[in-house]
Amino acid sequence: MRLIFLGPPGAGKGTQAKLLTERYAIPQLSTGDMLRSAVAQGSEVGKRAKAVMDAGQLVSDEIVNEIVSDRIDAPDCAKGFILDGYPRTVPQAIALDRMLDQKGMRLDAVIELKVDEGALVRRMENRVAETVAAGGNVRSDDNPEAFRRRLEEYRAKTAPLSAHYAGTGRLKTVDGMADVETVSAEIEKILA
Ligand code: AP5
Repeated sequence: MRLIFLGPPGAGKGTQAKLLTERYAIPQLSTGDMLRSAVAQGSEVGKRAKAVMDAGQLVSDEIVNEIVSDRIDAPDCAKGFILDGYPRTVPQAIALDRMLDQKGMRLDAVIELKVDEGALVRRMENRVAETVAAGGNVRSDDNPEAFRRRLEEYRAKTAPLSAHYAGTGRLKTVDGMADVETVSAEIEKILA
């Protein structure tokens, strides 16, 4: 099973991808998590990505395409994977199409989560409050200014991917405003 989750920041891509990893025993490939880990390690990629991520902007296509291409060659991706937060621009989607072709792989579904912007902001605020209450580290891009920029980046660069994937016949849209369990059940129906 090879899946893509599309949707704005806070739509629930990571939450739903995690649930599916358990159900299908395939890994969640979150480019956001991979980049945050590179930043934490202070690697060359991390150094280049940090300021861009903190500002709520997108890291260059070149960097993320390379990260994903290497990651899907790993043995744990042999049975499939869930892409969470990639692709995020039309050039990334074209690079992914080419990459999968070269590796002899094909996508099974592209699932888009639709959530109102007001709800997205509230989810980000809840995540911050929960993280603080648990004594954890708040994401450096979970603040009003960076989140506003993340939404702008989404509208300008990621939203056009719906049309890209609608053309392939693999795009399925799910109402992401419902609770986690209802959204998950909808996704299950699509994948069944
Ligand atoms: P990334 O880490 O991918 O962040 P994001 O897309 O902005 O999304 P989030 O992680 O905030 O949201 P999500 O949709 O996963 O929702 P979640 O399940 O967490 O990217 C971060 C940055 O990295 C980017 O800004 C960019 O700089 C860089 N980057 C990453 N990929 C890139 C790429 N391909 N190209 C270039 N740059 C890239 O849920 C959010 C909250 O809502 C949680 O608290 C959750 O508990 C809650 N929640 C989830 N579902 C529900 C529900 N149904 N009802 C109520 N609450 C819910």
